[in-house]
Amino acid sequence: MKRILVTGGTGYIGSHTVVELIRGGYEVVVIDNLSNSKVEVLDRIKRIAGVRPEFRQVDLMDAEGVREVFAEWQFDAVMHFAGLKAVGESMEKPLEYYEANVAGTVNLLMVMKKFGVKRIVFSSSASVYGEPESLPIRDDARVGVGITSPYGRSKYMVEQVLGDWCMVDAEVEVTSLRYFNPIGAHESGLLGEDPNGVPNNLVPFIAQSAAGKLGVVKVFGDDYETPDGTCVRDYIHITDVVSGHLAALGKMKKGMQTYNLSTGAGKTVLEMIGIFSDVVGRELAYEVVARRVGGADVPVLYASADRASEELGWRTERTVEEAIEGVWKWQSEV
Ligand code: UD1
Repeated sequence: MKRILVTGGTGYIGSHTVVELIRGGYEVVVIDNLSNSKVEVLDRIKRIAGVRPEFRQVDLMDAEGVREVFAEWQFDAVMHFAGLKAVGESMEKPLEYYEANVAGTVNLLMVMKKFGVKRIVFSSSASVYGEPESLPIRDDARVGVGITSPYGRSKYMVEQVLGDWCMVDAEVEVTSLRYFNPIGAHESGLLGEDPNGVPNNLVPFIAQSAAGKLGVVKVFGDDYETPDGTCVRDYIHITDVVSGHLAALGKMKKGMQTYNLSTGAGKTVLEMIGIFSDVVGRELAYEVVARRVGGADVPVLYASADRASEELGWRTERTVEEAIEGVWKWQSEV
């Protein structure tokens, strides 16, 4: 049986991926510092997948703690989700973002190298493309120019680091998956996006607002060059994101590969509020406020995932509407 280390495995995308890894016959070890997730997620994973993965509470900045995990188990591959991911927050705390995302990853890679583990799937981001030259963003589009936030730059830097590792060791296998906007919840209603504190991302915020836990949704600017003035994003169902990871893991090869995980189409913030209103069955209130701090938002982002479709045989199978129905079911559980 293949054993996979999942960093950030109690988080949103990590936990959903752990379920499918277990179902796919992998043995999974999870590490997470629980800074934005809860350990109870492991029990929910067990309820769905039948197995509670081994878990160690380790922060990637704790290199010794990471080493102990590698000394305890031998891994065939690492799936690396751990990191900070709030664009707005990264504008206020850039150093914390570089520490967690860049330094934390370098620590992990150093330990992987020491233990001879040379296969990693990395959670990258659409934000590495910065201000896109053309839409939809293709897999081979330029990266690194006009990135709007330290969060995005941290993901870009890690991709450079991974590329350099491949350059000096021909046995290293890296797959970097550039997600657009993953949304939705597990079909069981037992897993979803459950950030600690007030959510930064749009969909969890709308969900908690609709559930009466937060005030009205604040729309960050309606004066962008888009059909209704609000930003356009490529929202992708979490289940499709996870199937992309399983496909990638099954087809790793030497050197560095990058793939967009996206649907090819975008929706505006107001469209998302509209879909959510339909699912909930009443008009959700919102208020337009200023653009995000520092102008961190790219107005329009959507991408083609041709490379993942051609090389991994992957494609999306679910709609934004289904994703939001899942979020609402999940919201009533938490
Ligand atoms: C950002 C990153 C993306 C990353 C994701 C992870 C960029 C361009 N995108 O997505 O790569 O995977 O974070 O967290 O860096 N909005 C509101 N009100 C809210 C919250 C959000 O209007 O309360 C708007 C935002 O301005 C944005 C859209 O909704 O236009 C989506 O925001 P969000 O869900 O935070 O994701 P991104 O910022 O697109």
